[in-house]
Amino acid sequence: MEEAHQAAGRGGPGGGLRGLGADDAPAARPVALTDIAGDTGEPVPTNVAELDRVLVGGLVPGSITLLGGEPGIGKSTLVLQALAEMAGRGRRGLLVSAEESPTQVRRRAARLDALVPGLWLVAETSMPGIQAAVQEIKPDVLVVDSIQTVWDPDLDSTPGSVVQVRGCAHRLSVMAKADGLTTILVGHVTKEGTLAGPRLLEHLVDTVLSFDGDRHHALRLLRSVKHRFGPTGELGLFEMTGAGLEGVADPGGLFLVDRRCGTPGSVVFPSMEGQRPLLVEIQALVVQTPMVSPRRSATGFDAGRLALLLAVLDRRAGLSLAHHDVYVSAVGGVRISEPGADLAVCMALASAQTGKPVGDDVVVLGEVGLGGEVRQVAHTPRRLAEAARLGFARALVADRGPDEGPLALRRVPTLAHALDQYLGGDRSTLSPLRVVGADPAAAERAAAQAAAHPASG
Ligand SMILES: Nc1ncnc2c1ncn2[C@@H]1O[C@H](COP(=O)(O)OP(=O)(O)OP(=O)(O)O)[C@@H](O)[C@H]1O
Ligand SMILES: [Mg+2]
Repeated sequence: MEEAHQAAGRGGPGGGLRGLGADDAPAARPVALTDIAGDTGEPVPTNVAELDRVLVGGLVPGSITLLGGEPGIGKSTLVLQALAEMAGRGRRGLLVSAEESPTQVRRRAARLDALVPGLWLVAETSMPGIQAAVQEIKPDVLVVDSIQTVWDPDLDSTPGSVVQVRGCAHRLSVMAKADGLTTILVGHVTKEGTLAGPRLLEHLVDTVLSFDGDRHHALRLLRSVKHRFGPTGELGLFEMTGAGLEGVADPGGLFLVDRRCGTPGSVVFPSMEGQRPLLVEIQALVVQTPMVSPRRSATGFDAGRLALLLAVLDRRAGLSLAHHDVYVSAVGGVRISEPGADLAVCMALASAQTGKPVGDDVVVLGEVGLGGEVRQVAHTPRRLAEAARLGFARALVADRGPDEGPLALRRVPTLAHALDQYLGGDRSTLSPLRVVGADPAAAERAAAQAAAHPASG
């Protein structure tokens, strides 16, 4: 901490903003806001379309961006592709490879078709070495891969320590602001999902990007966690191929390609990622078990939320899975974090339990409350329009919502109604599912019954 501040002082935090050195720092005087030049710089496209989507246009000159992700996810690939694209358009790029040898980087560049003029490489880990390379090359864009392996001999701490990582990031950030040098720092993510060592880095930088996906799938997802120049929430989608990361141009039905029609436990949820609707298949599997503590497994979905929905299904809709192992998965390595997927998860569970498919042409959208009520979800019209475009005909939605849409809407006020509508009819012959209908007295009876026999779930 102490050392980090000393390092900052040498670079001059005030100097970082105004191009002054540490000695001039006291001269930083208040200026009328209107007197400050307004050309802070428009974002410059990287020409990696999905990256530009997440950055809302591109990289702002002089800004500092942190790209975090798990080992092997493709961080070095993404930055190298972006650098090559920018170098191809006349912007000088310098790649500081603090982890890999020049031969390794060159091999990757050859595979990615990134051997272009205007792109420079230095295999360096020390701050003075990096600063010397920047002085020599005078790049427009600097990439440090990764910040965790860079160290500053002036800091009295071992390489890789929090003090080192933060101190180096601070010096690079000061350099970026002072010289108008667009900088990208690559950072590893720990098992806990935080940017390694320092979450502390997040406040030092202008933009934090997180790159994830399932290493066993080719799909990669890029999000902005923090962005000082525009909104966060946009999702960039890439496919990892032998020739590098390829943007997914029309991802609407990306996660549905392997879907098998007519399968019980499969429900399609029209999710929203930033400005873009994305249809995701949610699968559930329910297996009877003699175990006292049945298994609950959630992939791509919050386990706590699954436990809550199982409780609501039990108490408010009469569907108890207390003696069943339960598996829920969002297909394709995607992560669903919005509560708008609640109803789809519940329907998938009920469908898995009854063995009755929900219908191949149906999308399900709604948040489920603790009272078993179904609530409407933001951006419903856009989600349904995308579902219609991809050939879906019906939607199960909350009672209150858009009056009409491109799909035949089936409205449900409660979870019990939803189960009744879609899994009603001949369900009794298919499964032991006990559906409480619209009758509030029946719901009360079921709740009382459940309270009398508190099945742990
Ligand atoms: N020839 C290839 N064909 C297809 N995919 C490849 C090929 N070579 C590498 N990859 C993919 O690239 C990934 C590694 O990419 P990259 O080195 O950019 O990741 P990284 O996030 O920088 O990793 P690290 O944490 O080790 O620095 C591999 O996990 C693999 O998915
Ligand atoms: Mg790497």
